[in-house]
Amino acid sequence: MPDEPRVAPHGDPFAWTEGARRTREHAGLVRELRPRAAESALLDLAGNDYLGLSRHPRVTEAAAAAALRWGAGATGSRLVTGSTELHAELEAELAEFCGFEAALVLSSGYAANIAALTALTARGGLLVSDAGNHASLIDGCRLSRAETAVVPHADPEAVRKALDGHGGRTLAVTDSVFSVDGDAAPLGALAEVCRGHGAGLVVDDAHGLGVVGDGGRGAPHAAGIAGATGVVATVTLSKSLGSQGGAVLGPAHVIAQLVDTARTFIFDTGLAPAAAGAALAALRCVRGEPERPLRVRAAATTLYDGLRAAGLHASRPDAAVISVRAPSPDDAVRWAAACRDSGLHVGCFRPPSVPDGVSRLRLTARADLTGEQLERAVHTIAEHAPGGAR
Ligand SMILES: Cc1ncc(COP(=O)(O)O)c(C=O)c1O
Repeated sequence: MPDEPRVAPHGDPFAWTEGARRTREHAGLVRELRPRAAESALLDLAGNDYLGLSRHPRVTEAAAAAALRWGAGATGSRLVTGSTELHAELEAELAEFCGFEAALVLSSGYAANIAALTALTARGGLLVSDAGNHASLIDGCRLSRAETAVVPHADPEAVRKALDGHGGRTLAVTDSVFSVDGDAAPLGALAEVCRGHGAGLVVDDAHGLGVVGDGGRGAPHAAGIAGATGVVATVTLSKSLGSQGGAVLGPAHVIAQLVDTARTFIFDTGLAPAAAGAALAALRCVRGEPERPLRVRAAATTLYDGLRAAGLHASRPDAAVISVRAPSPDDAVRWAAACRDSGLHVGCFRPPSVPDGVSRLRLTARADLTGEQLERAVHTIAEHAPGGAR
């Protein structure tokens, strides 16, 4: 930066971070790590364990069994020693459950998004990206080297205009359920626009899998576009499946393209067997207990109704995520802290995690929340709402 003093030889080249932190402090944007205890009295409306599966005995036992059988780590990248039979089993079941021909498991949803966007476009191509997309999709656009057109939120007409006249490798990319406000993308209309332009559609179903659609088969399945030519989905194994990892789902020839060219797949150690085993067990729980997705959606609606009745600006949930607007970043931090002091853990989203710059409390419903817990959560949030939140 031209206006920063030159660093003296042998000085601390990172001294500038102190000034940067002070700037963030003034803007209310300093973040803090708060390690949680294994057993906490806090009611958790901040995590992404939507179906309550991360501590389900079948899931944790499967994780332990996989570690004992296959080892604590995958031992190498997927193309060398990091693919076990467990990974293959998970890929087959995930693809079948979500309605796609094939799947490829990666070490995170973040890596899956970057893999899909970088392997399926190139310099000279075009990516059309919703303004509300998750950071991992934004980074995927940057790394793809394709031209990126950011279009207004949930607007198929804007996507159509951006695609008009472009040949070559073109992709539209969207979250299925947006991670800040929990609203759903118009997937059917987007798929139609893409089909009409010969463009691919990449749908990040991180917040849809296990929550949206028949038995939790995800948003592309619910929209009738799972398995369609030109449609690729990405998922995380770390939210409704309560584990860790990610996957790309699509036609077999698209998955083969990723295996050969996606750098976050090729140059990354394979997903730990414990995580693969846990995700597979969780997937089987979802399949065997289709009432779990219904319960999480009902819990989200109950929260929303209560917050609106309390006069708060809550977003209408299309899945498990709800946000409540706060007047400022500082208000959001204080509000979340007051909730925590009263026994309720809620998320606090501030810039740059919010695309429109509006700070929010972010709440997540879970399938295992009781009516009494939901009532308590609404009461606590309403009780501590700052002036200007209503
Ligand atoms: C919409 C969306 N996509 C991708 C990711 C990244 O998934 P993971 O946490 O598995 O890297 C997240 C998670 O935070 C997300 O919310």
